[in-house]
Amino acid sequence: MSSITLHTLMARKQAGEKFAVLTAYDACFANLISTAGVEVMLVGDSLGMVLQGNDSTLPVSVEEMAYHTAAVKAGNQGSMIMADLPFMSYGTPEQAMDSAAALMQAGANIVKLEGAAWLDETISLLAERGIPVCAHLGLTPQTVNVLGGYKVQGRDNSAAKQMIEDAVRLEKAGAGMLLLECVPALLAGEITRAVDIPVIGIGAGADTDAQVLVMHDMLGITPGRKPRFVKNFMAESEDIAGAVKAYADAVKQGNFPGPEHGFE
Ligand code: KIV
Repeated sequence: MSSITLHTLMARKQAGEKFAVLTAYDACFANLISTAGVEVMLVGDSLGMVLQGNDSTLPVSVEEMAYHTAAVKAGNQGSMIMADLPFMSYGTPEQAMDSAAALMQAGANIVKLEGAAWLDETISLLAERGIPVCAHLGLTPQTVNVLGGYKVQGRDNSAAKQMIEDAVRLEKAGAGMLLLECVPALLAGEITRAVDIPVIGIGAGADTDAQVLVMHDMLGITPGRKPRFVKNFMAESEDIAGAVKAYADAVKQGNFPGPEHGFE
């Protein structure tokens, strides 16, 4: 059982205390990351890119997510474990129940899924049956082919208004957390204040309740161009444990992200 719960994180939000989230995919890193004081470990479907070498998250299966979730649970020292429901594993509420059950039984404490209005019924059903849900809005990588690339979302007035409405509605449906990816900083701050549930940001400015990064990005080992929202914490640390601790501390002290990591 994780010692960090949704209640813990809700209390942090109410007290104005930020918390740190980082991806983890195996037992060894899970041990290191949870020992460094990262409150939530995300078994992200980003593993399709950083572990498997695909150019998107689409090929990842529920079985692969369950395998990595179990590995992270084996190394966990008290963090909350969030696991991604992968592409096409939650097309209907019933399919979502089966997929989420597999991840919870593998060791997840909460599942994350991408999308807005069409997920109301699914989120209500999961929450009613004892499966906490984090809803992911903004840049949703599983729909990269519809979005036409990995682009900032919510820049025009109507898209921004829609995202605020979506966030409020998903909270009403039963979401216990929200994640905003690549959203203008001002809009992310507005959404964070509009809902009572904790909001995690990535490329969403400094005003969300928490921050998440992909571990390989913050260790500076992801090949290719580095997204604007990434900071390489290895550059100023002697070892990996030091870099993860520096990241967790920087998030909690409000020193990361800086304005240079966000979008207008
Ligand atoms: O899969 C993942 O790692 C994610 C983060 C980028 C938020 O969803």
